[in-house]
Amino acid sequence: MSGVNDIRSTFLNYFKANGHEVVASSPLVPRNDPTLMFTNAGMVQFKNVFTGVETRPYVRAATSQKCVRAGGKHNDLEQVGRTARHHTFFEMLGNFSFGDYFKKDAIAWAWELMTEVYGLPKDQLYVTVFEGDPSANISFDQEAYDRWAQFIDPKRILKGNKKDNFWEMGDTGPCGPCSEIHVDCRSDEERAKLPGHLLVNKDHPQVIEIWNNVFMEYERKASGELVALPKKHVDTGMGFERLVRVLQGKTSNYDTDVFQPLIQKIEELSGLRYSATDEHLHKSKQVINIGMRVIADHIRTIAFSIADGQLPGNTGAGYVIRRILRRAVRYGYQSLN
Ligand code: ALA
Repeated sequence: MSGVNDIRSTFLNYFKANGHEVVASSPLVPRNDPTLMFTNAGMVQFKNVFTGVETRPYVRAATSQKCVRAGGKHNDLEQVGRTARHHTFFEMLGNFSFGDYFKKDAIAWAWELMTEVYGLPKDQLYVTVFEGDPSANISFDQEAYDRWAQFIDPKRILKGNKKDNFWEMGDTGPCGPCSEIHVDCRSDEERAKLPGHLLVNKDHPQVIEIWNNVFMEYERKASGELVALPKKHVDTGMGFERLVRVLQGKTSNYDTDVFQPLIQKIEELSGLRYSATDEHLHKSKQVINIGMRVIADHIRTIAFSIADGQLPGNTGAGYVIRRILRRAVRYGYQSLN
């Protein structure tokens, strides 16, 4: 079992060894992009490279990007605290190709990293591919299917719809079909009882999406029209806190060494105890767990936001941070006395 920092550097070093430039995370509040309040994915700092407006001295990059999803198209705020896997602030691990490699290499590397480097059991993984959308004139992603089928039992390759398998940054911007990797973390006994493919993308707390590989081919214009990009790109995003949880054999992101130091500090300050699981827990104890998870999550968002220059305020991104701060304070009073 590796610690949080090893898991992150293993990802970056793997892609560095495969010719990627390791690029620093961009700030949480994107500069010069009025379409977004917060950086919500690793690709945000590369948006203009994908659309062809800007070029970089490299055609492959890898990052660990600070992200906030608490407003706009990708918004997880109300889930946070109630689940073991949602956050307002998280790190997204990503590898990117700017007009260089496409589905073949992206899929082969994703599989090798997951199964050989991180050592995840192949029989606990599922992948999804885009089923197509005749109304937008986009066909089934046969190429992604065929590439996956070289590595994984075709029974584990599932077709997904536009909601799950066509990724868009926001109302406008680069977008394309995607392939997700899901991990079934249930016990052997539970997996024998009910096959995992029935639980993929069904909000099961132990059958979770961990990595999304987007094949950027289009740009969504303000008119809603999809136009082909000048070149094809790869944009991937892996939920770092989820990866750590899977590799550390935990059933909750909050039980990993990303969050435990925060939870322990909250226990110390409140004089209350966090319970390892919510299951079969008396309601009064569940309330404490939720409150501690909310604070452990929100304090990261608020601290990183302020450190990146976005203070709580009355409008825009500042108002979102203020609401998150208030939500944490409210849980502090109501759940932790
Ligand atoms: N940009 C893609 C996502 O956020 C990888 O899921």
